[in-house]
Amino acid sequence: MKQAIIEQAKSILNSNFKKEQGFTIPCEGLYPFQWNWDSGFIAIGFAHFDIEKAKQEVITLLKGQWGNGFIPHILFHNDSDTYFPGPEFHQSKLHHLASQQVNTTGMTQPPVLGFALKELYEIVDDKQDILHFISSQIDKVFENHKYFYNNRDPKNEGLVYIYHNWESGTDNSPIWDDIWETFTPPQYDFERRDTTHVDSSQRPTNREYDYYLYLIELAKQHHYNDKKIAETSPFLVQDPLFNAMLIKSNEALIDLYTIIGDNTSKIDTLSKWQKKSKTNFNSKLFNKELGAYVHYDLRNEKQIPFVSSSSFAALYANIPNPEQAKTLVNTMMTKFGNDDQYLCASFDPTHDRFNPRKYWRGPVWINLNWMLYYGLKHYNFNDIAKRLKEDTVALVTKYGFYEYFDSRKLERPDEKGGYGGNNFSWSAALIIDILTKEK
Ligand code: GLC
Repeated sequence: MKQAIIEQAKSILNSNFKKEQGFTIPCEGLYPFQWNWDSGFIAIGFAHFDIEKAKQEVITLLKGQWGNGFIPHILFHNDSDTYFPGPEFHQSKLHHLASQQVNTTGMTQPPVLGFALKELYEIVDDKQDILHFISSQIDKVFENHKYFYNNRDPKNEGLVYIYHNWESGTDNSPIWDDIWETFTPPQYDFERRDTTHVDSSQRPTNREYDYYLYLIELAKQHHYNDKKIAETSPFLVQDPLFNAMLIKSNEALIDLYTIIGDNTSKIDTLSKWQKKSKTNFNSKLFNKELGAYVHYDLRNEKQIPFVSSSSFAALYANIPNPEQAKTLVNTMMTKFGNDDQYLCASFDPTHDRFNPRKYWRGPVWINLNWMLYYGLKHYNFNDIAKRLKEDTVALVTKYGFYEYFDSRKLERPDEKGGYGGNNFSWSAALIIDILTKEK
């Protein structure tokens, strides 16, 4: 059974791999290009059975890196008319340091590459070969972190902002609803493509797309200049998932540079960033009443007081102290852990904004579960980690390798529980990881 799931997952990854360009699509139709954080997770999956593809994934992603260290959220290596908005809308070359090799978007995604490299190192047996590869790429990831601290942290707090909900990775979360209330975009004339692949009830509305497009138009007006974006964008958020990824990746870079040797000054720089980031993450993003980390709205200077799966990502990055970790897990189990729910819904199931089948407004996502699983294990919450893993495997076994899953344990056997894209790459990649590493 377990082996059959792993084999199925491998064949999904292999068939989503585009040999000619050297990257893996998240899935056919809905996501036909290379996505930043997807690639990090995909590389981890491939590392278990085809390390050359894992390396290729990383190399191809870094081809899109800009001269200032920025790594974009989508790389348009190929043509496709199944996705909107494409390269002609984003116009990345408005930025004077944009990649000349490939068209991209002008926004980024959670920085997973640092810890993905560390995972590669741990998974692969031939340490010498993988270290050789890591040594050839790691400085680019370091430059990316430098970009974040120099350009996305206007108050010098060690907490970086995102200027678009698509940078968060949790694109349609109810977290953003209150921000949409603060401005009124025009109504754009555009043709959606996502709703030709997936039922519109599981996707954002057309009006919500107006907000997304407006934020991009604004950034384009400023030629994607970070300083100007920080001054003008109505969306400016310090996101606990995004910052936890950066912190986890800092830690990974420190470990890898230590193994490589001769990199003291980079290790010192990373350690300074890390200290500041962790301290302010704990003081600024923790909400005592909710017993969880929350988002901070930098434009309107206030916390956004909702609990989502992003609230728990800090466990994966070793951010909370043991006492805080206990509080956090208690919040998780009280709000998300009822027996009629699979762990872990993407948004607070006790809240009226919760929707168990709509894109990031409640469904379970495998990448968040993967992080939480290792985070819980790290803090020795072994029983909850075990349940989380069993729930994760049960979902793909029951419904297939979907993009996201209804968080409720459905009674009727005919009810559909998997949504969004099918044969979804990171769902496959991370199931391979979780099942292969199991004792
Ligand atoms: C969706 C997700 C985003 C992911 C992308 C490609 O937009 O919200 O996190 O990177 O799909 O899979």
